[in-house]
Amino acid sequence: MPTQNKYSGMDDTVSIYAQLQDELGLTISAAETLDALETIRVAELGKKGRITSMMKELGKLDGEARKTAGQGLNALKTQIALTIEQRKAELDQAALNARLMAERIDVSLPARPQNQGLIHPVSQTIDEIVAILGEMGFVVAEGPDVEDDWHNFTALNIPPDHPAREELDTFYLPGGGELGDKDEGENERHVLRTHTSPVQIRTMENQQPPIRIIVPGRTYRCDYDATHSPMFHQVEGLVVDKKTHMGHLKGCLIEFCRAFFGVEDLPVRFRPSYFPFTEPSAEVDIGCTREGGGLRIGHGDDWLEILGSGMINPKVLDNCGIDSTIYQGFAFGIGVERMAMLKYGIPDLRTFYESDLRWLRHYGFSALHTPSMVGGLER
Ligand code: DAH
Repeated sequence: MPTQNKYSGMDDTVSIYAQLQDELGLTISAAETLDALETIRVAELGKKGRITSMMKELGKLDGEARKTAGQGLNALKTQIALTIEQRKAELDQAALNARLMAERIDVSLPARPQNQGLIHPVSQTIDEIVAILGEMGFVVAEGPDVEDDWHNFTALNIPPDHPAREELDTFYLPGGGELGDKDEGENERHVLRTHTSPVQIRTMENQQPPIRIIVPGRTYRCDYDATHSPMFHQVEGLVVDKKTHMGHLKGCLIEFCRAFFGVEDLPVRFRPSYFPFTEPSAEVDIGCTREGGGLRIGHGDDWLEILGSGMINPKVLDNCGIDSTIYQGFAFGIGVERMAMLKYGIPDLRTFYESDLRWLRHYGFSALHTPSMVGGLER
């Protein structure tokens, strides 16, 4: 770098200033930090800076030379100040960009799975059933766990002497009058609902067809062993319309079974049965094999009963104020725990309610794995 004395007082001041301007321009643009830039500014334009000193030296020149040198030096000084300002703006911007990059949150990243908390198999299974049937156009309906006699039994064509009403099976609540009457008011007998079917009645009493509902919920029966629990879950299904027929029932349930178990050509069998609220009634069996000890769902030489169904008994429609000469439909009832046990190989129903965390860690589901027809239902 030439010294200041070498420049000041020289004849060809303009070209010297131009050369200095070029050199300083390079030095300034090479400054990588704001500190480095400030050092250059102080060294050139500061009180004791080189260009400041050169300005002071001008006094030693005389006349025309001082004027020419003065103009040139002023232009140089302005230019250098400007170049420093521009570089400073560049460095500021770069610093801002670097900060923005460093502080950037990538919102497209998938959330990190938290290993705390798992979805209980009952909830997971209900979600799966709802996802499949929701895709078919069913909407979720709900009803109370404490039911009256009318909704739980009578309206469903379950007469007072039906075995389902026996104290042995049903949890009756204290108080209440005779069985089988509709308008007993406060005196009516109340029960913990023994199935989700009363929500069929509640829906049809309040809504004219077309109806297409599913009812996931808790149900209660006085029973306790490896496959029965006093509280368990069902998903009820109900379709009412003018032209709904047995073909719809079969198509819907075959499709449901295949989607739920993830077996595309799963054999599904409809076996004649009896329920008071459906006529005809059918129990649904799926194909399986028990060869080699365990149970495998799919093709095989055996059948496994999984749900109850049927065409709605016209008496039930009439009980709800729906004209059975115009409307018909089908209904079905799925046992949630049973479906979960079959799909996920859980051997004992009682373990569902023991709140054993080791059990939940083994059979539970990640909160991020939401079942859907699109995303798949498998674990
Ligand atoms: N409510 C029956 C039960 O708890 C299950 C059931 C069977 C429901 C057939 C239905 C049906 O809607 O059509 O055992």
